[in-house]
Amino acid sequence: MISDVLRPVKINLTALPGSPEYDAQLSLQRLLPRLRGVLSDLDLPSEAIEGFEDRLATHWPCLFALLRGLYGQRYDFFYHLERILLTITNGFHERPHGLRESDRRRTNEPDWFESQRMVGGALYVDLFSENLGKLREHIGYFRSLGLTYLHLMPLFAVRPGDNDGGYAISNYRSVDPRLGTIDDLRVLAKDLHESGIVLVLDFVFNHTADDHYWAKQAMAGVAEYQDFYYLFPDRQMPDRYEKTLREIFPTVRRGNFTWHETMERWVWTTFNSFQWDLNYSNPAVFEAMLSELLFIANTGVDILRFDAVAFIWKRMGTGCENLPEAHQLIQAFNACTRIAAPGVLFKSEAIVHPDEVVRYISPDECQLSYNPTLMALCWESLATRDTKLLKRSLLRRHHLPTGTSWVNYLRCHDDVGWTFDDEDAAAVGINAYSHRQFLNRFYTGQFPGSFARGVPFQENHDTGDMRISGTMASLAGLEQAIDNDDAHLKEMAIRRILLLNSIILSVGGIPLLYLGEEWGTINDYDFVRDPAKATDSRWVHRPKMRWEWLEEGYQDISERGRINAAIKRLIMLRKSEPGFAGMKMELIPTDSPQVLGYLRQHDGSRVVVLANFSEHVTQVEGNRLRTAGLGRFFLDLYSEETVSTATEITLKPYQFRWLRRT
Ligand code: GLC
Ligand code: GLC
Repeated sequence: MISDVLRPVKINLTALPGSPEYDAQLSLQRLLPRLRGVLSDLDLPSEAIEGFEDRLATHWPCLFALLRGLYGQRYDFFYHLERILLTITNGFHERPHGLRESDRRRTNEPDWFESQRMVGGALYVDLFSENLGKLREHIGYFRSLGLTYLHLMPLFAVRPGDNDGGYAISNYRSVDPRLGTIDDLRVLAKDLHESGIVLVLDFVFNHTADDHYWAKQAMAGVAEYQDFYYLFPDRQMPDRYEKTLREIFPTVRRGNFTWHETMERWVWTTFNSFQWDLNYSNPAVFEAMLSELLFIANTGVDILRFDAVAFIWKRMGTGCENLPEAHQLIQAFNACTRIAAPGVLFKSEAIVHPDEVVRYISPDECQLSYNPTLMALCWESLATRDTKLLKRSLLRRHHLPTGTSWVNYLRCHDDVGWTFDDEDAAAVGINAYSHRQFLNRFYTGQFPGSFARGVPFQENHDTGDMRISGTMASLAGLEQAIDNDDAHLKEMAIRRILLLNSIILSVGGIPLLYLGEEWGTINDYDFVRDPAKATDSRWVHRPKMRWEWLEEGYQDISERGRINAAIKRLIMLRKSEPGFAGMKMELIPTDSPQVLGYLRQHDGSRVVVLANFSEHVTQVEGNRLRTAGLGRFFLDLYSEETVSTATEITLKPYQFRWLRRT
């Protein structure tokens, strides 16, 4: 065993010569003197070094195999291998003591994030509180809402002008000066931790901004940095790649490449033209980004949101999305992180086909993942008043491997795309193509009778494809109801909002609120006045937080106050109900297409959830619940009514029930 090898200076090679394990051991054996030399110069307690060496021994074979698979063909593979090992060691060395302590606690309690007490929120620092300093003053607000997970949208230094909401990063080691400094971030992380809140930040690793140091060096003609990106002198290669590529931002620019005047090169730019895709076939890029990853983790970030994971590896003749190497790369980042900063989790942002989404989820890759299919199908069911596609998807796709979890959300800073599986749709009698057309028309308010006020995003006139922007409240009907000043419509909109929240808070996984939604914020069309935002309709659902809404008096009377009070209550109920922990969920047949029913159970606690996705009163047979929930009488945690399974159970328009046996 390598762990025996490490501490005694004498090294035994226990694996069979010629086997991959043997190669891994031998490589480590050869690197060890160099590593030990470095470690002995570091001012670290011996237990810390022992822990590090143990983790290295555990994760090295896997890391070695991954890197060898990705880069083993290169003449300078072992040079890069050594550099990567030293980058890990450096990241570990720079990890503050407090974070090493939390690493230790999390290693002993690896399922900490599966607790029902986990509830997330996401926000833009500038729109919420101007800067990081002022954000600290709102920790009380997060606590009063019940949050234990806070995702700050990208806050690093960005290029001037349009920066794609922070996703065009010019320096991963400095905070945008308008928001504060790295030290402000460290202080905030510490304060959040003291309040029991984990900090989540993006790891925007598919691309840098065009004014990142590496990009500037590339522009200046430095070959080493030109290799950091995909640059082409003419259209020959881009045209060949283009044959099989999708367009992600077709209204920004056709195709995936941008001509750069001064450099006289085509640059691969999957997203905006100023976001240059990094070339991970170059191990120096992996090494450089690993160093940025560990730097960010060491500021006190608990969860890294891996942005745009699908796009990080390219191969001619493929769609250059979700390639096997993309997974190997993330797994390699994971193995490095397990060694240097083992308490840190990864969350994947793969907004792709559901079969591909799950491939990023595993304890060795991303422990957490957005659940875009659930998100899309919650909205789909709300439009159709029919939960059959949602049920089919939950039945087949909710289950995840042990040690991982969904992050369930309804809205985020991005658009809504209809990422359900076409065959799932066909199996329940739905034609996927025309259904997506219908949903787009419904959510842009063009379908007769629609309650929604969404805005098209990235409409592609060639393919007819489109995604939807809009806040939760505007998509659920509140904007229309307010415009018509219609009490009934308002009531229905509020019920829809709460219904959807009741699902993401109970279905299994970490619920994630996009802050502002807890106040029923409606679309803000003013973004068009800002030239840096005007062409990107996602800004319609990224409004400024209105602190005056918190003022007393306003809260109780307004729709906003009602929504806020109800969401807070739902969060509180979720957190106090052990049955909501973990991911185990079984559907309950309800005999009614508009009613979704499921059983949640954990450690002997059970909760039955019923949700009526229509504006009509509906009944569910009591019998169904008696069998599933094992009881005759239930308490509806939300309405506090007692429900008997001897008769039919009535659900009012858009009513949900969280039922616990009494
Ligand atoms: C992710 C982000 C999105 C951004 C894109 C490019 O999808 O969520 O906002 O535009 O990556 O970084
Ligand atoms: C990218 C975009 C995001 C979009 C997704 C699916 O991740 O950033 O806005 O939803 O692709 O097309």
